[in-house]
This record gives sequence, structure tokens and C-alpha cells, in this order.
Amino acid sequence: MNILHIISSPRTDSYSVRLGNGIIEKLQAANPGSTVQVRNLAEHPFPHLEEVGIQSFNTPAESHTPAQQAAVRHSNAVIAEVRAADVVVIGAPLYNWSIPSTLKAWIDHLARVGVTFRYGANGPEGLVQGKKVYVAMASGGVYSAGPMQPYDFATPYLKTVLGFLGMTDVTVVRVEGVALPALQAEALPKALASVSA
Ligand SMILES: Cc1cc2nc3c(=O)[nH]c(=O)nc-3n(C[C@H](O)[C@H](O)[C@H](O)COP(=O)(O)O)c2cc1C
Repeated sequence: MNILHIISSPRTDSYSVRLGNGIIEKLQAANPGSTVQVRNLAEHPFPHLEEVGIQSFNTPAESHTPAQQAAVRHSNAVIAEVRAADVVVIGAPLYNWSIPSTLKAWIDHLARVGVTFRYGANGPEGLVQGKKVYVAMASGGVYSAGPMQPYDFATPYLKTVLGFLGMTDVTVVRVEGVALPALQAEALPKALASVSA
């Protein structure tokens, strides 16, 4: 099993990274010999899309200018890593009720018409099939239930965009309430226990 770990927290004691590592440990225990490829978006962020990059998406590879070739290499790298993975573990801190911009930039390079999705006779079709995705979501507040639930735009967004690309088997694991003194200490153990379950 090839596991791809996407890290988007810049923090050394990140909850989303520790939860992602916990998920990976369980996967490796159940699948001895699994490989892990780490893509740290905080250490090495992908650039925001620029005009030349969008042009490269809409131009056949054999017609790319040198500038388009340079721009499209980011997208090619993201797509190759996802294609090579059986399981993708995405660490996602909740930032301002959404995902960090580094993770959004990664998605912007992953979603490419004709490559990772296409429009067919029956509408859009995701071309990244057969993957299992775990989202390791960390948040200061609680969003799995209660009054703040509608403010988590990250989970529905990730499920929608990954599903659009063909990755419909998405499990969200939450380490939540890390900013709340009453919940903080137990947040990670509880999340890791839910992974075992
Ligand atoms: C820039 C920033 C924005 C944040 N926005 C939210 C938010 O909207 N809702 C929330 O519950 N927590 C928010 N938090 C708290 C983080 O979700 C929480 O600290 C989480 O543990 C961060 O993930 P990490 O531990 O993997 O770095 C924010 C933290 C930062 C640094």
C-alpha cells in the first residue's frame, strides 16, 4: 500500500500532523510493508495559480511554451503523487472556517480538466478513482455537533472537491476543541481512539 501524507500545518506540535501520523501508523500496522510519501505544503508551498499556469492547463503538452512547461510542472508533480497513492491522508487545520491557503493551492494544481476530471456526455467525471482518503482535521472549536457545526466549511468543501475528482471514499477524523481548556487534553487521545474504532 502506498500512502501519501499531505501536511499543511506549519506548527511543530501540530494536531493535524499528529493525527495524520496516527492514522498512518494504524494503516501500516494493518498493511505491513506500506510506503509513506510525505508532501509538506508548509515547508514547500506550491505557488498560487498564475495566468501562464492556467494557459498550460488549457494547452496540449506538446504545444507548451517553455514558460508553460515550467508552470505545469507543479501540477504534474501533485497529480503524479496522488496517482501513485492508494491512500491519501490529508492534514487539514481549520483556518478561518476553511482550509489553509497552502492546501487550497495544492488542490488548484490537482484539479485539471482532461487530466483529473473531464466533462462527458453525463456531465463531470472524476478521473482519480480507487483511492481511500482520510482527512485529519484539527480545530480550536467543536464542529462535529453543536451550534458551530455549520461554520465548518472545510469538511464539505474537501468532500465536494475530492469527490468531483473521483475520490468519493473520504473519512474525516477530527481532533477538535483544542482551544477549549475543558477539551484540550483529551482531544488528541479521543481522535486517535476513534481511528482504532
Ligand atoms: C490562522 C488560524 C485560523 C484559525 N481559525 C480557526 C477557526 O476558524 N475555527 C477554529 O475552530 N479554530 C481555528 N483555529 C485554530 C486551529 O484550527 C487549531 O489551532 C488547530 O489545532 C490548528 O491545526 P494544527 O494543530 O494542525 O496546526 C485557527 C488557527 C489559526 C492559526
